Amino acid sequence: MDVHNVSLTISAVAPKQYPTTGYPELAFVGRSNVGKSSFTNTLINRKSFARTSSQPGKTQTLNFYNVEDQVYFVDVPGYGYAKVSRTEREKWGQMIETYLTDRTQLRGVVSLVDARHAPSEDDINMYNWLSYYDIPILVVATKADKIARGKWNKAESIIKKALEFNDANSDFLMFSAVTKDGKAEAWDWIEARMAE
Ligand code: GTP
Ligand code: MG
Repeated sequence: MDVHNVSLTISAVAPKQYPTTGYPELAFVGRSNVGKSSFTNTLINRKSFARTSSQPGKTQTLNFYNVEDQVYFVDVPGYGYAKVSRTEREKWGQMIETYLTDRTQLRGVVSLVDARHAPSEDDINMYNWLSYYDIPILVVATKADKIARGKWNKAESIIKKALEFNDANSDFLMFSAVTKDGKAEAWDWIEARMAE
């Protein structure tokens, strides 16, 4: 998609604030600092539209980005953050779970992991959970520019093995917000979900 118009429709703290326009939605999940905002900015050709932060785990809102009045990108702030209380974290987890399981507009989830490391326990739990609910998943290994191209295959197999990756409901790609590797493939996946 050739993107020119993007706006933040709402930073929602409760379901009654979610958009009612009915456009398809793609949710982006991953632990704090993995590169969700950078991924979003790359897809929409902006340098710093979605907030990129060096202070992870602060926002606890579902951010709905209206892209060309055709699709919402839903930035789900990082799991695995330590700076909030346990009660807060549980409340937040509940809100995400309800969104991911009940939202009829949701067409798929982009699950971001760090290309340099084996997936964390949170990453694995999220992947299993999404699989259980039969949600189409695109696993995006971010910051691929930080490892040599000759090691990309190895990184991919480490990630897939840890996740017990299932080709039936999942796709995988290496991505870099710096070099834009994976951008076209990510859009292909998103447009395929939008068309379903
Ligand atoms: P929170 O919103 O705080 O949970 O973080 P986030 O997942 O949105 O991550 P964000 O996009 O803010 O990126 C975190 C840090 O990683 C920033 O310093 C980014 O510049 C850096 N970063 C993100 N993507 C890439 C990438 O592809 N390559 C490199 N080299 N750095 C990246
Ligand atoms: Mg962010």
